[in-house]
Amino acid sequence: QEDQFKKVISHAKEYGYIFGSSEIYDGLSAVYDYGQNGAELKKNIREYWWKSMVNMHQNIVGLDAAIFMHPTTWKASGHVDAFSDPLIDNKDSKKRYRADVLVEDYAEKLNIKAEKEITKAAKRFGESFDRDQYETTNPRVMGYRQKQKDATTRLARLLEAEDLAGVKALIEELEIACPESGSKNWTDVRQFNLMFGTKLGASAETATDLYLRPETAQGIFVNFLNVQKTGRMKIPFGIAQTGKAFRNEIVARQFIFRMREFEQMEMQFFVRPGEEMKWYEYWKETRLKWHKSLGLGEENYRFHDHEKLAHYANAAADIEFNFPFGFKELEGIHSRTDFDLKAHEEHSGKKLQFFDPELNESYVPYVVETSIGLDRMFLAVFSKSLQEETLEDGTSRVVLKLPSILAPVKAAILPLVKKDGLPEIAQQIVDDLKFDFNVIYDEKDAIGRRYRRQDAAGTPFCITIDHDTIKDQTVTIRHRDSMKQERIAIKDIKGIIEQQVSF
Ligand code: GAP
Repeated sequence: QEDQFKKVISHAKEYGYIFGSSEIYDGLSAVYDYGQNGAELKKNIREYWWKSMVNMHQNIVGLDAAIFMHPTTWKASGHVDAFSDPLIDNKDSKKRYRADVLVEDYAEKLNIKAEKEITKAAKRFGESFDRDQYETTNPRVMGYRQKQKDATTRLARLLEAEDLAGVKALIEELEIACPESGSKNWTDVRQFNLMFGTKLGASAETATDLYLRPETAQGIFVNFLNVQKTGRMKIPFGIAQTGKAFRNEIVARQFIFRMREFEQMEMQFFVRPGEEMKWYEYWKETRLKWHKSLGLGEENYRFHDHEKLAHYANAAADIEFNFPFGFKELEGIHSRTDFDLKAHEEHSGKKLQFFDPELNESYVPYVVETSIGLDRMFLAVFSKSLQEETLEDGTSRVVLKLPSILAPVKAAILPLVKKDGLPEIAQQIVDDLKFDFNVIYDEKDAIGRRYRRQDAAGTPFCITIDHDTIKDQTVTIRHRDSMKQERIAIKDIKGIIEQQVSF
């Protein structure tokens, strides 16, 4: 698994997807830049999300709110008081950890042990294996599961009660998954606020303290009435937005999984009080279907229902994805009640209510939110698409099997040789296709090497122009995944590609 993750990181760099930020100065930790292919892939994921959320739902509209917001926003939302991570340092190694992550890692270690037992038993029993029964009767598996549950519920209770000394004691007690496991030399646990502060204004005396937004959601809440009134929206309706968010993450690791500057794609769905659970279930299912539609493998997704709820939620679940380092949160679906709108009413003194003509009454709507990190989605798609295949002739190839609808470059147009008028025909094909798709021209190296380069870059089609093209106006189209080649007419290229890449 670790090897696979290293391959993902180096492949992302080698093929122009992701670079470390300001790399020539040795980079900035947990900040990344997207290269020529990465920018395209990211844009395509964003568009795929936007089309399915905004364009496909008549009752969802878009918004593009500013990153800077009035500082009271973050007081009302609870971020000033409650948006923090519990930190702990080991005095011997001088290493800093997130206390909750240490406990989560411990639980994950037990989960891996339990899964190993189950896989071993499944092999032993063959066809007759009943996983559910085994999980609820095998003492060893039950033991692992119990320990896992004990640790996470104890942590949740301690954090809820703000018992930081108790969290420290828990860490000292568990065989946690870090080199300092068993050490008694920990500092006290303390809460660290994750928001980045900045200043607005020219002089030190008059400047206002601001925060860079840690989520895009609040831009939607404060515009709730603007959009509802001007768009004459009726409940239930949603507002969707994509944009940057910033968090001063302490344990910033795992590449673009946890970044300090990242992009979110969020949608707040405003509903009648009392109907929120129906919509919560609806959005859980709808979002899972969206993920599965990409064809990365249904077994790579699972729900994780939260036991410990954020300060604003009455129900919450994650859609977890099987990343190269195991199942982790990809998207959150939260039933946020009327917490945010009510808090903004209180802090602003303005009413944020909807008059419901059917009920003939005004109320503060309840909100169900779907929230996904664009960068995290990028990592999910990219890591699952990167594969190494052994071919029939015994050689191997590296291929990036990105869903065609998301691939940065849809087709590479390749003249077989750099003479006899073939480059000119290839260029003409590029000029005809470029209005509809992102295509590239490549004439360097032997054709086999060019194919492999495009396989590794994730390009779903290669179009080769050869001497027969001059005679009969046909070209070879090569499919990335099957490596099959077909002869097709130049006039049919556009239609064939369109069928595979449009959404
Ligand atoms: N408005 C709700 C909200 O922000 P969250 O669970 O804190 O909820 C939502 O974040 C999603 O944003 C996560 O599921 C994850 O995909 C993404 N995300 C959060 N923190 C991130 C980080 N530091 N780096 C990359 N993505 C992040």
